[in-house]
Amino acid sequence: MMKLASGILFTEKQIQQRVLELARQIETDYEGKEFVLCGILKGCIPFLADLMRKIRGDVKIALIEMKSMVDGKHAEIKFTTEMKLDGKDVLVIEDIVDTGITIDYLIKHLETEKGTKSIKVCTLLDKPEARKIDVPIHYRGFAVPNRFIVGYGLDYEESYRNLPYLTWVEP
Ligand code: IMP
Ligand code: MG
Repeated sequence: MMKLASGILFTEKQIQQRVLELARQIETDYEGKEFVLCGILKGCIPFLADLMRKIRGDVKIALIEMKSMVDGKHAEIKFTTEMKLDGKDVLVIEDIVDTGITIDYLIKHLETEKGTKSIKVCTLLDKPEARKIDVPIHYRGFAVPNRFIVGYGLDYEESYRNLPYLTWVEP
């Protein structure tokens, strides 16, 4: 049984400030390009919603779902929204990069099957101590310790996604 920690890792204000910084960086780097923010459900929801509204200029979005792991591999990638990604500059929006397995699988899938022009990764959180596969991270909100983080889209057994701040659960 896990319970919510009493402490806060990052406050709502700290998150919003960092998301604004990322948005400014992204809009500069992608200026003049036709780019698509490709969010991984469900964890990306608050982050994607805040980030896209802080980016000035045109930006498109796509949403995907990645089914849970079978034998250490992701069984399926499902595009929730119809979106042609061929020839597009795609920025993957993830809640947290932990082992790196999800992002590694997704990048390979997009490269081989979708004919994207470029693929970059933007993750709100990065847990470097947990990494098993080396993956490129182009935009990172915060590095976090090796704990089970919840809030702002991240869940523990589907709970706590609605917290506006980031915290963790403990035994
Ligand atoms: P991966 O291990 O990098 O493939 O991460 C897989 C997925 O596990 C992430 O996209 C998250 O949805 C979830 N995850 C990993 N670490 C945490 C955590 O600390 N809290 C909540 N979800 C997590
Ligand atoms: Mg996820």
